[in-house]
Amino acid sequence: MQATDIIPVKEALKLPAGSTVKVRGWAYRRRDLGDKAFIVVRDSTGIIQAVFTPDSPSHPDARKVTVESSLVVEGTLKDDPRAPGGKEIQGKKLEIVHLAENFPIRRDASREFLLEVRHLAVRSRKMTSVLKIRNTVFEALHEWFRANGYYEVQGPMFVSAAVEGGATLFPVKYVDGSTVYLTQSSQFYLEALIFSLEKVYTVAPSFRAEKSRTRRHLTEFWHAEAEVAWTNLEGIMKVEEELIAHIVRRVLEKNAEDLELLGRKTEILRNVEPPFPRLSYDKAIEILQGKGFKVSWGDDLGADEERALTEEFDRPFFLYGFPVQAKAFYHKNDPSRPEVTLSADLLAPEGYGEIIGGGERIEKLEELVEKIKSFGLNPRDYEWYLDLRRYGSVPHAGFGLGMDRLVTWIAGLEHIVDSLPFPRTVSRTYP
Ligand code: 4AD
Ligand code: MG
Repeated sequence: MQATDIIPVKEALKLPAGSTVKVRGWAYRRRDLGDKAFIVVRDSTGIIQAVFTPDSPSHPDARKVTVESSLVVEGTLKDDPRAPGGKEIQGKKLEIVHLAENFPIRRDASREFLLEVRHLAVRSRKMTSVLKIRNTVFEALHEWFRANGYYEVQGPMFVSAAVEGGATLFPVKYVDGSTVYLTQSSQFYLEALIFSLEKVYTVAPSFRAEKSRTRRHLTEFWHAEAEVAWTNLEGIMKVEEELIAHIVRRVLEKNAEDLELLGRKTEILRNVEPPFPRLSYDKAIEILQGKGFKVSWGDDLGADEERALTEEFDRPFFLYGFPVQAKAFYHKNDPSRPEVTLSADLLAPEGYGEIIGGGERIEKLEELVEKIKSFGLNPRDYEWYLDLRRYGSVPHAGFGLGMDRLVTWIAGLEHIVDSLPFPRTVSRTYP
């Protein structure tokens, strides 16, 4: 007798009725109906139902199977419109690889409990689909940068000074007894590297001691950053829109089933083609005041304000021309209007808000020193960063993309913690 090869569930579902199939995975659902034992088998590709009747020698074993037991099932495929995927395996052989203990996750599990058992909850079909989308997002990002002449580089995670302001710095006691910090952004290191490679990018964790509990803040997030020599704000915005459009196209191509399983409406994703609309900060303030927000020119915009602005657009859009005081010190001021920076954020529609922050950097030494001082910072803390303006400084621009926020929006999730397997937030570092 010829042994049957194990095939993925998704492949098994494509075979005609009457085929002999062998699949392996985990018991997703288990129930007895009369004298029939039903097992829905889950693997990384999908789910398929198997039924064992008393004439199968494996029937007693099938009745023993518990939810999440690992197993191998062999049998004959039969059409059954009631079964998931429209097909069912009439079970002949069952091998229980591991009989699972009583699985703690039930249908009515609370959100908090699911986070507490995240090491088990990552098996859910929803999480599996999110992780597949996330995989495509990372893959497509690398694909785009590599196809466009960028070098991938890596910066350090232990750093000695703030990039994004002291309020969200994570201090770490270093081996020599000194205090260092977990990096908030690899930007300054990328700026150093453009002098050898011109166009660079990195994908790395960034850390922010965010005290606020919001739907879009993690304390450790995945940050894709790029830096480009000889370009300006206009140039870097083009990079951002091409990159985002490419990533979204790839997800639509590769993850149609996952988007459907998540109930994600894809119309808006299909609008993600460059050029993206642009909204000036000045106009944004007018719109917000018109909507009854108590904001005035110079204020930074928070999540609520951003959400209100996203109502104006059916695709991602740039918000540009922020006041100097609302943005980090390294942003270049607009020479034709020194009270605003040459920077832009990219906001995702449907209430999601900021996914990218970027812009032109200050390339002149004196200008940078003055700006550092005007922010109440000490130029001495930025000695090596200042050096970059001493030896062949060039105009340059760059940006940082929050990968978890991007996945949250593309997958249409309610909360950023569901965009990655093991989120770190103000209240969670376990599991
Ligand atoms: O706007 P941010 O703070 O900009 C920077 O860090 C720049 N140095 C990047 C650069 O130009 N190289 O952060 C960039 C992006 C944000 O738009 C957001 O998507 C994400 O990083 N981000 C966070 N994502 C999750 N949790 C947090 N606490 C985040 N803080 C920023
Ligand atoms: Mg920002």
